Parts: sequence; structure tokens; C-alpha cells
Amino acid sequence: MPEHPAPPPSQAPSPARPGPEAVGETAPRPGAAQTTADARRRRRWLTVKRFLPTSLYGRALLIIILPIALMQGAVTWVFFAGYDERVNSRLSGALAGDVAWVVDAYTADRAAFPVVAARARAHSDLQVSLRRGPLPPRDARPSGGADRILQAALAQRLDRPFRADADRLPGAVQVEVDAGRGEVLRVLASRERVSASRAHVFLLWLAGATILLTAVAVVFIKNQVRAIERLAAAAEAFGKGADAPLKPHGAREVRQAARAFLDMRERINRHLDQRTALLASVSHDLRTPLTRLKLELALARPSKKLDAMKRDLVEMEHTIDEYLAFARGEGGEELECVGLRALLDEVAEGARRAGAEVALFADPGLTANVRPNALRRALSNLVMNAAVHGEHVQIAAHPRSSGVEIIVDDDGPGIPADRHEDAFKPFSRLDESRNQNRKGVGLGLAIARDVARSHGGDIRLERSPAGGLRAVLRLP
Ligand SMILES: Nc1ncnc2c1ncn2[C@@H]1O[C@H](COP(=O)(O)OP(=O)(O)OP(=O)(O)O)[C@@H](O)[C@H]1O
Ligand SMILES: [Mg+2]
Repeated sequence: MPEHPAPPPSQAPSPARPGPEAVGETAPRPGAAQTTADARRRRRWLTVKRFLPTSLYGRALLIIILPIALMQGAVTWVFFAGYDERVNSRLSGALAGDVAWVVDAYTADRAAFPVVAARARAHSDLQVSLRRGPLPPRDARPSGGADRILQAALAQRLDRPFRADADRLPGAVQVEVDAGRGEVLRVLASRERVSASRAHVFLLWLAGATILLTAVAVVFIKNQVRAIERLAAAAEAFGKGADAPLKPHGAREVRQAARAFLDMRERINRHLDQRTALLASVSHDLRTPLTRLKLELALARPSKKLDAMKRDLVEMEHTIDEYLAFARGEGGEELECVGLRALLDEVAEGARRAGAEVALFADPGLTANVRPNALRRALSNLVMNAAVHGEHVQIAAHPRSSGVEIIVDDDGPGIPADRHEDAFKPFSRLDESRNQNRKGVGLGLAIARDVARSHGGDIRLERSPAGGLRAVLRLP
């Protein structure tokens, strides 16, 4: 469905053409009127939109069924309002002509009634009878369409009082005419002589065709939509680190999209493999001399200089570990149902060892379907950040309608709101000037967000009520 265009900005009154609004304060500005009209139109569209289907399936069905319904409505209306009525009025005219002939023939020669009746039966299939008595008064009940048309046709051709019933006798039409001298001529004709309407049959055909067409449309659209759904599911699974099998099927464009996705997935996987292999070999090559250096330092005579060198070595090791973790992406791990309380306890303990004061609030029964090692790394990155920048750290886990939320608060300096996204960029260190003696790699938040997203969740940063930074990790 096309989006409704946003309302244009309100037009400022043009200085070249001073209108009445320039004269009086009370005159409404045309620009303002335009804006309110636009706003009203937009509101109306939004109301309509709320009732429109949102899925492709629903929309495709609507696109097919709406024109069918409109067309059938139009056909039905034309049929009933025009064609049907014209045909019935011709038929009624013919019957009225026959009745007029019977009345004229009888009143011209009353003795010839049997001949008239016999001719009417033979040539016009009318049953004519004669009775004495007054013409019964007209029925007060409302007459139907066929009745109304017949009355009009008879009134045009007869100059005597008459009474016609097209709707009350089953399968027959009765016309009674005052023949004068206290006699009433009664003419019975079959119902088909005034109405050719096959309305019920017509409607039945129409309804049958609609149901059949709709059923066919439902089956076809369902198939097409399923192909798109499969593609979407495969893309989502890939985003979470699983290579779900996908066989392109459906319409040409959908198959094309599926093939393009498969190609892209292969390229990305190849790229990831290369990156992992490269980083693994680099870190391996770096680790060997690093271990040698550590060994040599351990054997050397202790001194102040030596301690500084040892600290540098530890930092290098940490950096290499982080690079590797970032490159690997923990993709190989399987999903497991894990108790979050135990995992958070472990992470909190790590931060306490690093010297922070950590408070933990989590329901012991809270579980989630996660890759435990990856999640532990993500959480300990968040908690260690909080422990490094603040003195008090608070960790809380809450069940949410869409999964679980883990919130890490600290009372440190925090990050300005406009730099929250920058903090997630790999190798970003925001506090270089602020904190010279702490040298992080700048990968912690990038890794944590990678992990959260690979689970189908995300991380966002906020201002913490405790004064520092709040990191919210959402898991589905
Ligand atoms: N709790 C926090 N309070 C204030 N600033 C923070 C906080 N957490 C992160 N930052 C800022 O965001 C930057 C990026 O954090 P990130 O965890 O990605 O890297 P790092 O901690 O510097 O290094 P690493 O975690 O890789 O050892 C940090 O350098 C720091 O400036
Ligand atoms: Mg960090």
C-alpha cells in the first residue's frame, strides 16, 4: 500500500500578494486552514489504514478480492436495476395487451364468452372465467416489483377498473376486470408471463464463482507468500548465526531474491572464515614469542622495570584475546537453556575480584535460550566497564513480554547521549583524555552487541538513575 505523503509545511503568507489576512487579526490564515485540512485527511487515512491488513498475504488477497467484489456488485446492480426491469415491463405489456383483447372481445359480444375463453386458452395460454359480483377492493399490502410493473401495464391498456395480483398466487398471475353489468372477468396466466427474472439462479452463480475464485486465489497466494516467508526465516536465522537450508522456490522474482541471498550468505561466510583464519594465525604467531618473553621475565631478577614489562605483557595478551573473540564471534556455540541467576553470579563475582562493589537482583528461576560462553563474555564486558568507570555496580534481570532484559548500572561519569552509538564502534575509546592509565582495547561493547544481536536481541545505552551509565541487554 502506498504511504500517504506527509503534509506539506504550512505555507507562509506571500508578501508579494497581501491577502485579507494582512488586514485583520481575526481572518483565518489560508496556510493554517490548509494544514488542518491536511491533518484531518491524514488522520482519516490512518484510521482506514488501521483496518487494512498488514501482511503480504492479506494485502494480496485484498487486491484480488476487492476488484472481484466490486465488479460483481456492479454487475448485480446493473442487472437488477436496468435490464431485469426492462424485460419484465415488456412481458407485462404483452400480458396486459392479451387481457385487454379478452375484455374488449367479451364486452363487444357477451354471448360469445365460450369462444373468447377458448381462443384465449388456445392462443395465449390464459384461463378466463366469469363471475357475478362486485370487484374486490385493492389489497392494502405493498406490492412487489413484478406486481407494480403489471399494474402499470394494465392501467395503460384498460379503461375499466381492475385488480391484479402478480405476487400472491404461487406460480400464477391473476387479473380481475370489472366487465360492467355486475360481472367480473377473471384471467389467470402463468407467472412466467410477467417475470423472466432468474435472480436467485443468477445470484447463486455469482456467489459460487466468487467462492471458487477466492479459493483459487487463497491457494496461489499462500504458496507465493510461503516462499517469501522461508526466505525471511533463512535471513533471520543467518543473522542469529545459523545456516538454515533454503531451496529457492516460488515466483521468479522471489527465487531470484533467494538465490541472491544464498550467494550473499556464502560470500559472507567465506569472508568470515578468512578473517577468523587470519586472526587465529596472527594471534598464534604472536602468542609463541609472548610466552617465551613471559618465561624469560619470570626467570629474570625482579625489579621495578620488570614489573612494568610484565604488566605490558598481560595487557598484550588481553588485547590478543579480545581480537580473537571479536573475530570468532562465538558462532560455533550451540544454544542452551541457561539459568540467568547463576551466570550473572559468576559475572558479578569476576567484577568483585576486580575491586568493585556489585549488587545483583535476579529471579533464581529466570532462564533463557542462549550461547552461555558468548553471553558470559558480553555480560562481563558490560559489568567490567561499569566496574572500571564506577564504584558501585548494580545488575538486575527482569522478565519482559518479549523475553528478558538485563540492566547494568554504575555511578561513574557515564557517556553523553550523543556518543552512545560511538561507544559500540570497534576500537573506540571515549575516555582517552579522561583516564590515561586505563588502556582498554575498545572492543568490549562491540563484542557485547554482536553477541546480543546474534541471539536476536540488542544492547542500548542510557543515562543511569545511579548517575553513570546504564547498559540494557535485551534477549528474546
Ligand atoms: N560504564 C561506562 N561508563 C563510562 N564510559 C564507558 C562505560 N562503558 C564504556 N565506556 C566508554 O566506552 C568506550 C568503549 O567501551 P568498550 O567496552 O567497547 O571498550 P574498552 O572498555 O575501552 O575496552 P575493552 O572492553 O575492549 O577492554 C570505553 O573506552 C569508555 O570510554
Ligand atoms: Mg570494556
